[in-house]
Amino acid sequence: MSTTRIGLIGYGQIGQAVHKMIESNADNGMEVVFVHDQFAAAVESLPGDLALADLADFESRRPDLVVEMAHPDVTRKWGTTILEKTNYMFISVTALADQEVENSIEEVTRRAGTRAFVPHGGVVGMDALLENRDVWESVDVVMKKPPHNVDCAAAGLNPDDIKEETTLYDGPTRGICPLFPRNVNTHAAIAYAGIGFDRTHSLLLVSPEWTEAIVEIHAQGQGIDLRVARTEGITGVTGASTPASIYNTVQMIGSTGPGIHLR
Ligand SMILES: NC(=O)c1ccc[n+]([C@@H]2O[C@H](COP(=O)([O-])OP(=O)(O)OC[C@H]3O[C@@H](n4cnc5c(N)ncnc54)[C@H](O)[C@@H]3O)[C@@H](O)[C@H]2O)c1
Repeated sequence: MSTTRIGLIGYGQIGQAVHKMIESNADNGMEVVFVHDQFAAAVESLPGDLALADLADFESRRPDLVVEMAHPDVTRKWGTTILEKTNYMFISVTALADQEVENSIEEVTRRAGTRAFVPHGGVVGMDALLENRDVWESVDVVMKKPPHNVDCAAAGLNPDDIKEETTLYDGPTRGICPLFPRNVNTHAAIAYAGIGFDRTHSLLLVSPEWTEAIVEIHAQGQGIDLRVARTEGITGVTGASTPASIYNTVQMIGSTGPGIHLR
């Protein structure tokens, strides 16, 4: 069995959980060969030479797959450099709302023969959105979150001052991504899978009454009506189900282990 060598970027909530899940299954045919974070303190307790201080040295670890779990800026700065050499999965999908970033990733994968991956992450039903992307006439995303779990400062608001249900954004998905880059990856993945950033409609609401995150997706087309809603706990910017979802996609790409594999 061959082993897939994996590099991790971002060692916060999701990065740590995914690392643990990869390491906890000896049969999955995956090995973490580096972990990089912008803050050295985040990775100082890692054993041996697993921490990679300078991402520019990523090639020295010979990764087969690099997984970003940090911030969309990483893809902007490093996406094409990594893809020149190896495969790259980025979970901060809002990076794709920048048409230049999307084009440059497409271009480098063609030239270098590498592959870029976007996980479904927080999107329940991304398969259905993708498989029927030619059918949808409209796709609407409604996201409801507690104010402290959204970077409200981007809208010029202090979360403590929000006393009632407040609309932070109502418009095309292309516009919400640069405003709330850490909070609306779900919107970005829905747009990319379905009818694109300009035709997908995004609504972002906050209220101090809410303690959980809710995402509602409504896609409509000739003879088909898809409605998905999920309510879940949220810590920081991340929903409770996301770390396991990201690991699942990593293993779909990288696992070389035995067993029956769901696709
Ligand atoms: N695709 C999805 O469904 C989905 C869902 C939730 C979160 N996310 C995104 O995943 C990312 C990680 O989420 P999290 O909850 O683990 O966040 P977190 O804040 O707990 O951890 C992020 C880590 O990345 C590091 N980091 C940030 N910018 C960096 C950079 N430029 N270079 C290197 N390291 C950097 C931080 O120091 C931190 O340790 C965020 O961008 C978040 O928006 C995506």
